[in-house]
Amino acid sequence: MLNHSKKVAFRLNQLEIKPTDDPVQWEQASGLGKLQPSRYLSLRTALEKALEFERIVIKHYNDLANNVKDKDPGTYSLALELLDAELEDEQTIEDILARIEIQ
Ligand SMILES: [Fe+2]
Repeated sequence: MLNHSKKVAFRLNQLEIKPTDDPVQWEQASGLGKLQPSRYLSLRTALEKALEFERIVIKHYNDLANNVKDKDPGTYSLALELLDAELEDEQTIEDILARIEIQ
C-alpha cells in the first residue's frame, strides 16, 4: 500500500500536481469515510471493512484508468498496475472470508 502511495506521489510529482497535505481533505477525498477502528475488532468485521475499502479503491483506480485512457499513457499504465494489485487484494480477502465461513 505504501508502495502504491509512493508511485502515485511520484506520478503526481511528474505531472507537477501538488496534493494536499491535510489529512482532513484526504479523508473527504478518499470516499472511505471515518475509519473508526474500534468498531472492527473481530477478524471478520476487520476483514469485511478491509474488503469494503479494497472495493472503493478498485473503483477509484478503475475510474482513473477510464478518465486518462488515450490522454495520459503514464497515468493510465500506473492506474492499471494499481488496479491489478487491488483486485488481487480483494480476491485474497474474499478467500480468507470464505475459509472463515467453513469453520
Ligand atoms: Fe489493497
